[in-house]
Amino acid sequence: MPQEFSDDILQKLSLLQAKFAASGQDLGAYLEGLLHADYLTYWDYIQLDTLLSLQRPLTRFPDEEIFILYHQVTELYFKLVINELNQLDGTPSAAELLKRVGRINRYFSALTDSFGVMVDGMDPDQFLKFRMALLPASGFQSAQYRKIEIRCTSFDRLLHAGVREAHRVHRADELSDLFEKIYWKSGAVELSTGEKTLTLRQFEAKYGEELLAWAQHCYGNNLAAAWQALPETERSEPLREALRTLDAHVNINWPLAHYKSAVRYLQKDPADIAATGGTNWQKYLPPRFQRRVFFPELWTQHELDEWGKSWVKREVFGAE
Ligand code: HEM
Repeated sequence: MPQEFSDDILQKLSLLQAKFAASGQDLGAYLEGLLHADYLTYWDYIQLDTLLSLQRPLTRFPDEEIFILYHQVTELYFKLVINELNQLDGTPSAAELLKRVGRINRYFSALTDSFGVMVDGMDPDQFLKFRMALLPASGFQSAQYRKIEIRCTSFDRLLHAGVREAHRVHRADELSDLFEKIYWKSGAVELSTGEKTLTLRQFEAKYGEELLAWAQHCYGNNLAAAWQALPETERSEPLREALRTLDAHVNINWPLAHYKSAVRYLQKDPADIAATGGTNWQKYLPPRFQRRVFFPELWTQHELDEWGKSWVKREVFGAE
């Protein structure tokens, strides 16, 4: 004797019937499909087997896997950040901005706090050997990192420090020319010849057009513009603080944590070990030289003058 259906089930069936009928589909066929379908599993849902198959060391040194995995973890966090930024298109409200910038800060905080995995977590002897098998690849070629920067601020803020002011006001059709003046190119010029490194040339060949299109998409559509577009009354203290924290995370704290790893592995007296791209990383990487600031109007002149020096971190986060 078949069991009676409860009113709740009957009501759901009727809602489903209406749903499928609206797109010309037959509920019966879908119910039959359910009879044959397997239950969803954790490992299929998050594609675990694929995920765990994505580490392909090029050498036999076990610590190379740490290096690969931590870069992958970082790129996944970058994807989380971009997911938030993508939901701020147009003119977001102050509440929406605060919520999403808060999430992004949480991601960057996790990234900065975990960078010890690189700084202290690998055997230097292994590192110096396996890195030679990875040339000329470099985290410098992370397109997601560049996309985050471009989506956070006005494009002129990402130019070489010396030409930023001259391009403070620029048109969207100037972006292609401005790309040649972007700060990161100075991190990828060969010391001996002044030529673009292979690391940069390969990066530009793969991502140049995509990044230019992204910059055009972000013209007037970035976090700095969203803050500027808010009426004065909605520029609350918590939002101001959240944006300052984001600035400090992306332009001071993460770069400092990252720089520490370069110092740990590459700085060796008497001669420093050349960076992946043959660049002068000691002059390029430290935030106090790059002086990248997404939201300069939110900092005092003194804070800007001291950019990247340790007190900024102390004052903003209460710890060195
Ligand atoms: C032992 C660990 C690491 C060392 C020694 C290191 C070293 C370097 C060096 C020397 C550069 C300058 C460009 C070059 O010559 O290659 C660089 C750039 C960069 N690396 Fe790393 N890196 C490490 C880990 C990471 C990780 C885990 C990431 C995460 C994705 C990363 C992302 C970047 C980015 C985004 C840049 C460009 C920074 C900028 O343009 O300001 N690096 N790295």
